[in-house]
Amino acid sequence: MSEKEPIGVVGLGWVGLVTAACFAELGHRVIGREIEWDKVEALQRGELPFYEPGLQEIVERNRERLEFTTELEPLREAGIAFVCVGTPPTPSGDADLSAVHTAIEELGTDGPAVVMKSTVPVGTGRQIKTRHPGLTYVSCPEFLREGTAVSDFLQADRVVIGADRDDEPAADRVEAVYEPIGAPIVRTDVASAEMTKLASNAFLATKISFINEIANVCDEVDADVTEVARGMGLDPRIGPRFLSAGLGFGGSCFPKDTQALKILAGNSGYHFQLLSSVIEVNDLQKRRVLSKLKRHLGPLAGNRIALLGLAFKPDTDDMREASSLVLASRLQGEGATVSAYDPFAERNAREQLPQVEMAASAMDALEGADAAVLVTEWPEFGDLDWEEAAKRMKAPLIVDGRNFLDAEALRAAGFVYEAIGRPGANRPR
Ligand code: UDX
Repeated sequence: MSEKEPIGVVGLGWVGLVTAACFAELGHRVIGREIEWDKVEALQRGELPFYEPGLQEIVERNRERLEFTTELEPLREAGIAFVCVGTPPTPSGDADLSAVHTAIEELGTDGPAVVMKSTVPVGTGRQIKTRHPGLTYVSCPEFLREGTAVSDFLQADRVVIGADRDDEPAADRVEAVYEPIGAPIVRTDVASAEMTKLASNAFLATKISFINEIANVCDEVDADVTEVARGMGLDPRIGPRFLSAGLGFGGSCFPKDTQALKILAGNSGYHFQLLSSVIEVNDLQKRRVLSKLKRHLGPLAGNRIALLGLAFKPDTDDMREASSLVLASRLQGEGATVSAYDPFAERNAREQLPQVEMAASAMDALEGADAAVLVTEWPEFGDLDWEEAAKRMKAPLIVDGRNFLDAEALRAAGFVYEAIGRPGANRPR
């Protein structure tokens, strides 16, 4: 058994399980506590409740170091416990902190030091410390991306650790457990750590909405947003990443965190104008495909539209806030029939899109369609036999919602090719 200090993890959702598995990989014994018995039982059998590349292997490799339990008592063995419970938005847009409060009450002031991984509004740490005098509290927000969470953890860009002066010894312990990954450590106060998480996501969301608006202008002025992004991205002050125009951002973090920061600012008396626009641009972006389709098809009623990909991004089966949800409903609202194919998210999508005809393959989804929309840039769509696809469709029209496909190849296969912010892509150069 390892000599490294045991670590507690409270809440074994996506963040919690990645955190638990990665600390086990770093040689710690990890006690993961989850209230849902079914989940714990499945984990004890080695079954993961979601798909995350590389995670299954790490869990298997470190089985001896990983304990999954519904009990609180085993957590007492740990000096620090990472709280990784959900903080979903309430109807007012505030974060629902009930799971956080329950976790803190259960851990108690004499238990392990609380290390908050869950994304919480700025001020939560202070509020918790006031409610629980004597509690040791450290903020250590997560910056993991779905699909690359394991490498994001083990090769993190930075680790942010916030603590009040009294809690510095606990913050030192947190710093020590992250030390082996060699990432820059940002030591700061609790409120600044909380804000760093929200501000980072809001900035990235802003970058996406910005390039989406540039794309929309490119559509009007006959410029190509992918070329523009390439030229912009070479400026190191801008950087090339997060400049892909498309159908907007989705997922469990950006929509929730941008909204949470907007509401937090509003509740504190500040109107965060820029962020409000970022959110609005994102909402509208998902709908822009409809006007592109209508330009070719006229009214959409009676048309059959195939959606390629449904997940909010590739390499995940996550449908939370996926652009496909709004798009499918809008298409149906216009009277179109919608077929769809997603290599991974079909099971999750079925529940949320009961009216959509789920196909077993991309080719099946395209069969008899009047148009196709590429919603998620799954690599397999790049390798599709597009000549065959053109034959199977009623009319070979595609809107590439992620500027992912090879425009020339698509046109050579007989397609009318539309993209986002690339009006020239549908004609020879
Ligand atoms: C994000 C943050 O990256 C991560 O740091 C945080 O902890 C959680 O939220 P994630 O939601 O997994 O991670 O997805 P990410 O890869 O960041 O993509 C978010 C969304 O933005 C996706 O819908 C993606 O399609 C979209 N996106 C991303 C764009 O539309 N354009 C881009 O250039 C980049």
